[in-house]
Amino acid sequence: MKVLGLLGSFRRNGNSDILAKEALMGAKAAGAEVELLRLTDYRFEACQGFGLCLFREGGCHIKDDVKFIWSKIAESDAVLLSVPCYFLESTAVIKQLIDRAWVLAHQGTLRGKYASVLVPYATRGWIPYALLQPNIFFGILGFHVIHRETFNVQGLSETVHDDEALVRARRVGGELAEAVRGGDSAYRSKPGLCPICQDWNIRILQDRKAVECPTCGIRGRLEIKDGRFEVTFDEKARTEYRFSPEVGYNHFTYHIKPSRDYFLRTKDERKAKAQPYKTYLSSKEG
Ligand SMILES: Cc1cc2nc3c(=O)[nH]c(=O)nc-3n(C[C@H](O)[C@H](O)[C@H](O)COP(=O)(O)O)c2cc1C
Repeated sequence: MKVLGLLGSFRRNGNSDILAKEALMGAKAAGAEVELLRLTDYRFEACQGFGLCLFREGGCHIKDDVKFIWSKIAESDAVLLSVPCYFLESTAVIKQLIDRAWVLAHQGTLRGKYASVLVPYATRGWIPYALLQPNIFFGILGFHVIHRETFNVQGLSETVHDDEALVRARRVGGELAEAVRGGDSAYRSKPGLCPICQDWNIRILQDRKAVECPTCGIRGRLEIKDGRFEVTFDEKARTEYRFSPEVGYNHFTYHIKPSRDYFLRTKDERKAKAQPYKTYLSSKEG
C-alpha cells in the first residue's frame, strides 16, 4: 500500500513540508510505503484549452511533467495533499494542475482512491476558499477525501513549536493508511456544511429560494431554527453533485461532445469572422 505526499508550497522545510512529513511518518508507521513530491519542482504548462485530450487517444499532447505526476498518483493508493493558504485560497500550482486534469475527469481512471488534505495558514478568518482547489482537484479525480485539516501556523517552520499540529498531522497520515487498508471511506475530520465537500461556503441563488454549494453544485434550503441558520440538502441532491460519475458522464455526453460537432461545422465561418481580431493589439504573432 502506498501513500503519496504532494506539496503545494515552494518553501523547503516550511509548514506544509513539515506537516506532510509528519503525516507520512504516521502513514509509514501504519504500514504504508511513502513518497513525497514537491509540485513546484516540476514543470507544468498552462492548459491550452483545445479539449483534444477528451477526444484523442493518448490524452494531453503537452510535453511537461504533468503525466509524471499522474503516473505517481496512479501507482499510489492514497494522496496526502499539503498546501498552504495563499491569498484566501490554495497556491497557484494546484490550480495549474487542476486545469490539466480534465482528461482524468473524463476517463475516471483514478477514481476511488483515498485522500487527506492539510492546509497551514497564518491569519484566522483568512482562509474562506482554502479548501476550494483541493476539493475541485480530488472531485475531478473522484477520490474519497477523508480529512480536511487546517493548521494556524504563521511563520517559517513555526509548526515545529506546535505539538498539537504535529500530533494531528501524524494521526491524519496513520488514519489515511488505515482507511486504505480497511476500505473505509468514512470522513474523519470535523464535518462542514456541504455533505459532499464539507466546505462552509454556500451561495444564495438569484430566486432567493434556495442555496447551493458552489463547488459541488448541490442545492438545499436555508432556514432559521432556534435563531440558527440551518441548511438542508435533500438526499437526491447528494447523489447529483458536480463531480459524481453520472453528472460527469452527462456533462461530457450532452454538453462537451455535441459542442465539438458544432465547432467543427462552423470552423471556417468562425475563422473568417475572427480574422480582424487576430492581429489587433496582439503583442505576439499567432
Ligand atoms: C503570498 C502569500 C499569501 C498568503 N496569504 C495568506 C492568506 O490569505 N491567509 C492566511 O491565513 N495566510 C496566508 N499566508 C500565510 C501562509 O499560509 C502561512 O505562512 C503558511 O504557514 C505557509 O506555509 P509554508 O511554510 O508551507 O509555505 C500567505 C503567505 C504568502 C507567502
